[in-house]
Amino acid sequence: MRLIVGISGASGAIYGIRALQVLHGLGVETHLVLTDAALETIRMETEFTRADVIRLATETHGVHDISSKLASGSFLTDGMLVIPCSMKTLAGIASGYSANLLLRAADVTIKERRRLVLVVRETPLSLIHLENMVTVTRAGAVVLPAMPAFYDRPKTVEALVDQVVGKALDLAGVEHSLSKRWNGPVVKRKKSLPG
Ligand SMILES: Cc1cc2nc3c(=O)[nH]c(=O)nc-3n(C[C@H](O)[C@H](O)[C@H](O)COP(=O)(O)O)c2cc1C
Repeated sequence: MRLIVGISGASGAIYGIRALQVLHGLGVETHLVLTDAALETIRMETEFTRADVIRLATETHGVHDISSKLASGSFLTDGMLVIPCSMKTLAGIASGYSANLLLRAADVTIKERRRLVLVVRETPLSLIHLENMVTVTRAGAVVLPAMPAFYDRPKTVEALVDQVVGKALDLAGVEHSLSKRWNGPVVKRKKSLPG
């Protein structure tokens, strides 16, 4: 399996890093594009260096390298994850304004009718953000807000991160066992009374 992974400058760089770690462990071929703002959030929010992140990917492509193979639909992939996806990158994808390689790769993924999963992160959301999400959804992308659930009583930040990453990998068609799956509520039986 071959996936493009875009990391943009929304908060939650750890989501993208964790996705790369899991994909690396599963032997999935990954093509990474980091935006300039992502390099800032990685530095500000995590202990990872740029080199640490790049090491997790099979290949890394410069965000300004518009002649990269990722810029062409003839380079076959199984889809693309943008994790996390900033509102600026969302806007670029929604408008088809492919000003960098991440945006162009997403544009190609849409035009080739391949899977595009956008793990968007912002709060609150303006009408502009919401309309851009509608636009990309109409074009075939999946908008997956970085919004963990609490039904499995997560105890750590890592568990919350894994839940979002697991959901994104499900939608990208990657088989994994990262997060617990809801199997219905555990029914507590009443103790039977003696006699
Ligand atoms: C620490 C930090 C956190 C940010 N968090 C968000 C966020 O959650 N969502 C968002 O849309 N932008 C966020 N931004 C702003 C984006 O980084 C900024 O709009 C940037 O231009 C996005 O560029 P890119 O989409 O090319 O990565 C954040 C910036 C910083 C420095």
